Amino acid sequence: MNDMTIPNPIEAARVAPPAPLGMLAELTHRCPLSCPYCSNPVELDKRSGELDTETWKRVFSEAAAMGVLHLHLSGGEPTARKDIVELTAHAVQVGLYTNLITSGIGVAREKLEELANAGLDHVQLSIQDAEAENADKIAGLKGAHSRKRIFAGWVLELGLPLTINAVIHRGNVENIEALVNMALEFGARRVEIAHSQYYGWALENRRQLMPTRDQVMRAAATVERLRDELKGKLVIDAVVPDYYAKRPKPCVGGWGRQSLNVTPQGKVLPCHAAETIKHLEFDYVTDRSLPDIWANSSSFEAYRGTSWMKEPCTSCPRKEIDFGGCRCQALAIAGDPAQADPACSLSPFHAKITALAIKDAVADAPDYIYRRFGATSGNARVQITRNGAPAE
Ligand code: SF4
Ligand code: FES
Repeated sequence: MNDMTIPNPIEAARVAPPAPLGMLAELTHRCPLSCPYCSNPVELDKRSGELDTETWKRVFSEAAAMGVLHLHLSGGEPTARKDIVELTAHAVQVGLYTNLITSGIGVAREKLEELANAGLDHVQLSIQDAEAENADKIAGLKGAHSRKRIFAGWVLELGLPLTINAVIHRGNVENIEALVNMALEFGARRVEIAHSQYYGWALENRRQLMPTRDQVMRAAATVERLRDELKGKLVIDAVVPDYYAKRPKPCVGGWGRQSLNVTPQGKVLPCHAAETIKHLEFDYVTDRSLPDIWANSSSFEAYRGTSWMKEPCTSCPRKEIDFGGCRCQALAIAGDPAQADPACSLSPFHAKITALAIKDAVADAPDYIYRRFGATSGNARVQITRNGAPAE
């Protein structure tokens, strides 16, 4: 008798997904700033639930072993973690390219030097505006802008490559040229001009943040002109605003295809807004290994590839290019994450997203709803007084 196990044809046909290129490690949600477009969830993770040092180190080792190349050390403000140097050193040691995504606030020069000595590869500094008073207003912290200028100087002194990241919205969209000039002045090699994406806190503030179509068109023309003028001096990356788009972007490079996020508590997400999709169940690095979660977690499997799609995506020649756009935006606007991203003009919900943009862009908006621990969704206005210390 032949005792060979006959493979289950469905299991046998299942091919392990290629390794992700990048991992976003949200080391903490604590942050000295309160930007109203923050991509962190509206329900922020508390410090008491954050992963400990050894668990993060194990996760970084697993990431490197499974083929991740880029590790983005993010938050919140990642340097609010006391073990940031130890974590960075470990990531470098296991072979990951390390990118610190920081507000630059509350980071002493000595700490930055320790990070450089630990082998940190790159710094990405967020800037709220080129004009100090407005920048501080957006960040929700007086004096933040001037401290960022000092921080950028330290980055250069220490010989670390610098990227400036500016989230664009109604409150700064007219200042793109000044923002790019500021990036040059700061000695950055690259600037990312990213129109606000409306999930998390930005969705709460859409009426305050949405620019008009004319503003977006002028901004795009400015970016194109500056790209030509600054060729060889500064790389300008641009993220276009979905609400005025004709075709969506391949959000996160396609669900479960190129990247993953780990939250401060160790929950592994296919994208930063995935938790808004309530029927998904997410796995924790404390329960399963990172490679196992990447390959087998039901949350990654849910929208990986194209088999979950509905029309018009199913028969669309772009389905392997944009992977149907953004699942979270499909949920937020169309009420179904398996719909085409409403940013796509072929989506039956496209008229809705356009109408929302036009309406919000001229809304008589109240003050920003600032990102803050304990602040809830809805239209509650949050008054803040800030002293620059990372919020608990
Ligand atoms: Fe992308 Fe779907 Fe639109 Fe085609 S129909 S462009 S796959 S979102
Ligand atoms: Fe979740 Fe785009 S933010 S798929």
